[in-house]
Amino acid sequence: MTILGTAFGMVFYLLQVVSGESGYAQNGDLEDAELDDYYSFSCYSQLEVNRSHHSLTCTFDDPDINSTNLELEICGALLEINCLNFTKLQEVYYIKTKKFLLIGDSEICVKLGEKSITCKKMNIVKIVKPEAPFNISVVYREGANDFVVTFNTSHLQKKYVKNLMHDVAYRQEKVENNWMHVNLSSTKLTLLQRKLQDDAMYEIKVRSIPYSSDYFEGFWSEWSPSYHFRTPETKRAGLSLLYGPVSRIIKRLLNNCVRNQER
Ligand SMILES: *[C@@H]1O[C@H](CO)[C@@H](O)[C@H](O)[C@H]1NC(C)=O
Ligand SMILES: *[C@@H]1O[C@H](CO)[C@@H](O)[C@H](O)[C@H]1NC(C)=O
Ligand SMILES: *[C@@H]1O[C@H](CO)[C@@H](O)[C@H](O)[C@H]1NC(C)=O
Ligand SMILES: *[C@@H]1O[C@H](CO)[C@@H](O)[C@H](O)[C@H]1NC(C)=O
Ligand SMILES: *[C@@H]1O[C@H](CO)[C@@H](O)[C@H](O)[C@H]1NC(C)=O
Ligand SMILES: *[C@@H]1O[C@H](CO)[C@@H](O)[C@H](O)[C@H]1NC(C)=O
Repeated sequence: MTILGTAFGMVFYLLQVVSGESGYAQNGDLEDAELDDYYSFSCYSQLEVNRSHHSLTCTFDDPDINSTNLELEICGALLEINCLNFTKLQEVYYIKTKKFLLIGDSEICVKLGEKSITCKKMNIVKIVKPEAPFNISVVYREGANDFVVTFNTSHLQKKYVKNLMHDVAYRQEKVENNWMHVNLSSTKLTLLQRKLQDDAMYEIKVRSIPYSSDYFEGFWSEWSPSYHFRTPETKRAGLSLLYGPVSRIIKRLLNNCVRNQER
């Protein structure tokens, strides 16, 4: 065959493949896609929720779906066992286990009796939703003219999902203000007094997400409970110099001068 002939042959072959595929899609795949859509579900994992136990939680995306006879099953990337069944708690499918391998993909399938209706590949370590931070509190430091925000997270005590990014959100209450956000990886933050209104109530809360460059990835946690605090009445803008760290340095210098003169 000539080169031209070979080229024509290949084009003809490709045309067949393409038309073959589109024909197939028109028949079976379209309905499958609609079915997948109807039964679509979402999952998140929580690692070491209870010491070494991990959990996996799934829900159907359509809240009106009739899930009476539907079961969920996870297979693959498990220790000592091929598949695990989810427990159904009302609309939520839940597993608590030590058997997640935490390496590689699992397959999660919606089952009607023995039949798998639709399946989804998921990697447990890429769908981690951290536990919500707690005990957020704010302490005003008069001398420094700032507020120290601290909070706690159960992830400080964990072996796996240790690197989190926290999103601290605060806003003045009773004002149609937007939330102000600060990202940080530690559990301590200072807010400058001059950035906040005087004599005003503020609401502050925090949530966490696995640090994006880490092995573990996933979603935002729930928000922590809110903490409410009131800012002091007046900023002692000028006066504060007499009390703050700068004033201490000035006083020390003055004292030194006096002492030097006394010698
Ligand atoms: C943690 O697990 C233990 C035993 O596995 C159980 O007794 C306890 O209630 C669990 N705690 C929580 C908060 O789930
Ligand atoms: C849900 O489906 C089951 C059978 O699959 C049926 O018995 C039940 O009546 C249905 N519930 C609703 C609310 O449609
Ligand atoms: C999971 O549920 C199916 C029925 O839906 C049952 O046949 C199977 O034995 C269960 N597997 C486990 C490990 O419990
Ligand atoms: C909450 O945080 C405050 C301030 O950091 C601390 O004094 C207190 O002990 C914490 N409470 C709990 C229950 O951890
Ligand atoms: C954070 O909470 C844990 C309990 O979950 C507690 O042991 C620890 O002391 C707390 N840390 C701080 C700084 O409050
Ligand atoms: C915080 O980090 C998130 C995610 O990386 C980003 O989308 C957001 O813009 C950051 N916000 C601020 C205030 O830096």
